Amino acid sequence: MKILVVNGPNLNLLGEREPNIYGNETLGSINAEITAEAEKTGCSVEFFQSNSEGAIIDKLHEARLTSDGVILNAGAYTHYSYAIRDAIAAIKIPVIEVHLSNIDGRDEFRKISVIAPVCRGRIMGFGKYGYILALKSLGMLLGDKN
Ligand code: DQA
Repeated sequence: MKILVVNGPNLNLLGEREPNIYGNETLGSINAEITAEAEKTGCSVEFFQSNSEGAIIDKLHEARLTSDGVILNAGAYTHYSYAIRDAIAAIKIPVIEVHLSNIDGRDEFRKISVIAPVCRGRIMGFGKYGYILALKSLGMLLGDKN
């Protein structure tokens, strides 16, 4: 199983960005934990982070040919990017929406996810563990033995 993990805008600043909301860990250390978890089941994981909408869309298009599933934290694009929503709808592989924080318990504008209707499911509010839960979900959905 080949999984692509995509992180959107400002998630490169994890560790220093609003640690009371997003925690103290860097994206690099979270990715290392995801890799360690993936290795247990022989799953391969690719990581991509961009602050640009177009780059995220290009990566999702590429994933339809190279990956079995996508774990996506689209950051603030979650709330208004119809272009990312359309890219998810255009590809046939499952995309799991992940958020570190519980977006339903924060600002009003964060309660809207324009990507939710086209994602396979959503995991939020569990911090970095959301990525691990998404990985396990994809394993179960895609029929991994472990
Ligand atoms: C986020 C929530 C978004 O509202 C915010 O813009 C982010 C991070 C999260 O992981 O909790 O950048 O996606």
